[in-house]
Amino acid sequence: MANQFEMQITKILDEQGRDQQKLLSILLDIQKASGKNYISEEAAEIVSREMGIPLVKLYDILTFYAMLETKPRGRFLIEVCNNAPCYVSKSDRIAQFLRQELGINFGQTTADGLFTLQYMPCVGACDIGPVIKIGDRVYGNLTEEKIRKILSDLTNNLEG
Ligand code: FES
Repeated sequence: MANQFEMQITKILDEQGRDQQKLLSILLDIQKASGKNYISEEAAEIVSREMGIPLVKLYDILTFYAMLETKPRGRFLIEVCNNAPCYVSKSDRIAQFLRQELGINFGQTTADGLFTLQYMPCVGACDIGPVIKIGDRVYGNLTEEKIRKILSDLTNNLEG
C-alpha cells in the first residue's frame, strides 16, 4: 500500500499531468513536499516509474540543476545571493551574520534539521540587495535585525 509521501508524489504528478515538459517543476514540488528539501531515492524511483523516464536520465537531471538536491537539507533552505551587485551591498556581512546566528557554515544544516545555508546566483532583485531567498520568498534590504526577525518568525510559525 502506498505511504503518505508516495501519495503526495502521485498527487503532484496527477496535478501536472505527468508531462515531461514540466519535469523540473514536478521535481521542485516533490522536493518541497519532502519537508527536507531533497529528492530521495524513493521519490526518484516513483517519478522514473510513473513518468517512464529511465532512472539514470533522471539522476542526470537531478545532479545538473543546482536547485535540486539528492541529500536531505534543512526544512528551510536559506540562500544568500553572492553575485557582484549584492556583494557591493555587503552580502558578505549578511552571510557572516547568518553563519554566526545559525552556528553553521555554507553547505551545512543546523542540528535540529531546520536551516540549511547555501549561496545562490542573482535572482534579479539587485536593487534591494543584499538579498536572501527562503523557499519561494525573496527578502531584500537586509540588516542583522531583519534577519533575526525572519529567523524567529520561521521558528515561531512552526511552534504555532
Ligand atoms: S546580485 Fe543579488 S539579486 Fe542580483
